Amino acid sequence: MVCGIGREAREAREAGGAVFSRSHRRASYLRLSSLALGGVLLAACSGSEVTHLPPGPGDAKRGEKIAALAGGCGCHSADTGAPLSGDRGLPTPFGTFYSSNLTPDPETGLGGWSDEEIDTALRRGRLRDGTTEAPVMPWYAYAGMADEDARDLIAWLRTLEPVRRQRRPDEIWVPLPRLAFRAWVILFSRFTTPPQRAPSEPLARGRYLVDHVAICGDCHTPRTVFGSPARALAFAGNAQGPFDELIPNITPDKVTGIGNWSTDDMVSVLEMGMLPNMDSVSGLMAEVVDGVHGAPGYAQAPLEDLRAMAEYLRTVPPVANAVRDGD
Ligand code: HEC
Repeated sequence: MVCGIGREAREAREAGGAVFSRSHRRASYLRLSSLALGGVLLAACSGSEVTHLPPGPGDAKRGEKIAALAGGCGCHSADTGAPLSGDRGLPTPFGTFYSSNLTPDPETGLGGWSDEEIDTALRRGRLRDGTTEAPVMPWYAYAGMADEDARDLIAWLRTLEPVRRQRRPDEIWVPLPRLAFRAWVILFSRFTTPPQRAPSEPLARGRYLVDHVAICGDCHTPRTVFGSPARALAFAGNAQGPFDELIPNITPDKVTGIGNWSTDDMVSVLEMGMLPNMDSVSGLMAEVVDGVHGAPGYAQAPLEDLRAMAEYLRTVPPVANAVRDGD
């Protein structure tokens, strides 16, 4: 079984097991300092930390389609209770995070937040009190969402039934979490100014939706030991995905991926959750296709958008990465 995260974890363990002499320590200290300095310089060159929403009220109906394309923001829906009222436990190698309540409840949800505050949390990972959100929330991917789409998605969130639900505190072992998340932003996120409107040319639109709205890579791309996406293995699957689910390789590799699929095969998965062998997808994939507890999912998104994503994914580099036994 070849798996990116497994390999990197093994390398890190081996590195950690080395004898740590004084000169080693000095060298590591220097390396870490230069990494931090490099990170700060990169952050300075990596574009604005500010996002802008277009003036005027958002279009909640259009926003519902964006929510559908975003898999219904399913991580914010727990097994019980109203959709998007949060408090779903998200297990990660760093502990369990609990998602926040996105309904307009004034005390426990987003009722008291301005559109700009929600936008800054969504596209820049920064909360109202100035702290950085844990990167378990993929704001670094939503960072490229078009201004118009973010505004309309926020308008849709405001139409949800307000539900009072307090979120549990995270149960994580990250030391100095707020500082650690801030360092993560500096080292691993490259903010560029998002477009005002989403691209309309099909291939560019497919890429935009895959990377910044439907975030297929959030599950289908394995992660490094720092929890950042392993870019060389983009969409190549993960044998130890979230909730211990096996996430298949969706690159066009003919042996370990879906190189033998047609565009229609992929569209059927996104539109109906149906695989070419007539099986249905299950687990997290079924959640993002169907939406959780009545929230919209890919199945409710415009068909031409599903087709654009399927076409785009046929053009990504094929990566040989076997995540299933027998591949
Ligand atoms: C929340 C996590 C998650 C997201 C987001 C996600 N997937 Fe999946 N996907 C999965 C899981 C888990 C499976 C395996 C489902 C199963 O075993 O039935 C899967 C299966 C698939 C399959 C079937 C592949 C095969 O070989 O059986 C395809 C195709 C697929 N996903 C495409 C996509 C595309 C395209 C997107 C973005 C538009 C996407 N997925 C977003 C978790 C996710």
